[in-house]
Amino acid sequence: MTMRVFVPRDAAAVACGADDVAAVFAGAAREMQADVRIVRNGSRGMLWLEPLVEVEVAGVRYGFGPVDVAGARELIAAGLLNPVRVRNIAHETALGPVDEIDFFKRQTRLTFARCGITDPVSLDDYRAHGGYAGLARALAMTPLAIVDEVTRSGLRGRGGAGFPTGIKWKTVHDCKAPQKYVVCNADEGDSGTFADRMIMEGDPFVLVEGMTIAGIAVGATRGYIYLRSEYPHAAIALNQAIAAANAAGLLGASVMGSCHAFELEVRIGAGAYVCGEETSLLESLEGKRGTVRAKPPLPAQVGLFGRPTVINNVLSLAAVPFIMAEGAEAYANLGMGRSRGTMPVQLAGNIKRGGLFETAFGISLGELVDVIGGGTHSGREVKAVQVGGPLGAYFPRELFDTPFDYEAFTAAGGLIGHGGVVVFDDTADMTKQARFAFEFCAIESCGKCTPCRIGAVRGRETMDKVIAGQDRAANLALVEDLCNTMKFGSLCALGGFTPYPVMSAITHFPEDFGRARELPAAAE
Ligand SMILES: Cc1cc2nc3c(=O)[nH]c(=O)nc-3n(C[C@H](O)[C@H](O)[C@H](O)COP(=O)(O)O)c2cc1C
Ligand code: SF4
Repeated sequence: MTMRVFVPRDAAAVACGADDVAAVFAGAAREMQADVRIVRNGSRGMLWLEPLVEVEVAGVRYGFGPVDVAGARELIAAGLLNPVRVRNIAHETALGPVDEIDFFKRQTRLTFARCGITDPVSLDDYRAHGGYAGLARALAMTPLAIVDEVTRSGLRGRGGAGFPTGIKWKTVHDCKAPQKYVVCNADEGDSGTFADRMIMEGDPFVLVEGMTIAGIAVGATRGYIYLRSEYPHAAIALNQAIAAANAAGLLGASVMGSCHAFELEVRIGAGAYVCGEETSLLESLEGKRGTVRAKPPLPAQVGLFGRPTVINNVLSLAAVPFIMAEGAEAYANLGMGRSRGTMPVQLAGNIKRGGLFETAFGISLGELVDVIGGGTHSGREVKAVQVGGPLGAYFPRELFDTPFDYEAFTAAGGLIGHGGVVVFDDTADMTKQARFAFEFCAIESCGKCTPCRIGAVRGRETMDKVIAGQDRAANLALVEDLCNTMKFGSLCALGGFTPYPVMSAITHFPEDFGRARELPAAAE
C-alpha cells in the first residue's frame, strides 16, 4: 500500500525550507524504490513546528518537526520511509500522532477542519472529506432559506467589523438588479494575521464553495477574490481550485447541473492597507486608485460597478460550507453571547507557540497567550498584547480575563478585528508603539479626509516630542485631543480607529509616558 508523507506547501512552511525537505524525501523514495507519495498539504497551524512532516501509518499521522534538510536525511536513515519503523523513531523532531499534540487537540476546527489534512488542490480529497455537501444542500433550498440559515447561524463578519453576515446577504438578496456580485476580501493587511492565507493555501475549495453558496443565495452570478499581492502561493492554489471546480461543473453556467450560474476569478490587489477597506477595495477592483467611498450607499446596494455586492472576508465565506452542511444550529451552539461559532485566532509576535488556533468564542485572552501560546518566545514577562491588527488596542495583563467575544472586547476598549493577537514582552516601549500607530496611519492613509490625512502626521510629530521628553503633559493632552478628532471625524476606520492603539498605550502603560499609574479607587 502506498505510504503518504505530508510536507506542507503553505508559505510559512516553504519559508522555513519545506520545498527542499520535500525534495529530499522524494529523492530518497525514488532511490529506495519505496511506494511513497509525497503530499503537499496545508499547514496544521503550529508554525513553530514548520516544516512539520507527517507520515501516515495505519490511518495515524505521525509528526516530525521542525524538519530541515539535514534532519530529513537523518529521519530517512532512521527509517522514516519504512512503515514498520516510523512509530519507533527516536529523533529530536519526533512528535508522535499529530492529532494528539495539545495545541491541536484543544481546538474546535470547523472552518479549518480540512486544512493540513487534505491535498489542498485535490477536488477528490475535498469531496472525500465532506466538501460540497453544503452546496448540495443549498441547491435544494430557496435562496431566501439559505440566507435565513446563515442568519440563524449567528455568523458575523470576520474581516473586522463583526457585522452579521446573514443581514448583509439579505440586503443584497432583496435588491433588484440585472447584475449582482460576490466579492471576497482577501487583502488580509492586519499585522499578525495569516488565517486567510492559511485557508486559501491549505483548503481553497472551502472558499470557492462558500462564495458559490453566497452567489446562489443573493442572486449573484459573478464573484471576485481580491487577493493581496504578497500572497502568490495562495493565488496558485486558488486558481488551481477554481480550474478544477470549473472542469467538474461546480462553477460555470450551471452549478452542479442547476439553473444557477456562478463564475469566479482571482484579482491581485495593489498593495495598500486601505484597499482592505471594502469601498476602497471596490475602487481598486474597478481599476481605480484605492480611496474610500462615503457611505451610504452601502456596497450591498451600490457596490462593484454600481451593482448590489456582497463583500465578505475570506473566513466569513469559508465558514458557510460548514453551516450549510451541518445546519445553522451546529454553528450557533458554539460561542458566547452574540459571538456565535468559532474564531480562527492567530497567535503572533513574541510568543513561544505561534500559529492558528480555531476555538469557540469565549476563551479568555490570558488562556490564549499564557496557556495555548506558552508566553513569550523570549522567555520574558508579557507586557502587552495587541489584538485586532494595527488599529487594535493594547491589552495589559490586568485585562487578560477578557473573553474572546466581540462585545466583551468593545467593553474593554478594544476590538477583535480579524483575530490577530500580537504579543510584546517587557522590553517593549509603549511610546514607540503609540508613535508607530500614528506613523502607520500617516503612511497608509488614502488622503480623502482631513482628520486622518493631517491628524496622523501631527500625531506622529507630537509623539516625537513626548518621546524626547518635551513638555510631556501638554503634548499628551494634545495627543488626546487629536485622537478625539480622528475618532469622531474620520471617514473610515483607518483614521477612526488609530486612536485605539494610541490611547490604550497611554492609558494602560502610563509609566512609559512619564505619568504616574492611577491607583484603583479604595472600596467604600
Ligand atoms: C483600513 C481598513 C482595512 C481593512 N482591511 C480588511 C482586510 O484586509 N480584510 C477584510 O476582510 N476586511 C478588512 N477591512 C474590513 C472591511 O472594510 C469590511 O468590513 C469587510 O471586508 C466585510 O467583510 P465581513 O463582513 O465578512 O467582515 C478593513 C477595514 C478598514 C477600515
Ligand atoms: S480615515 Fe484615512 S483612510 Fe479613511 S477615508 Fe479618511 S483619509 Fe482615507
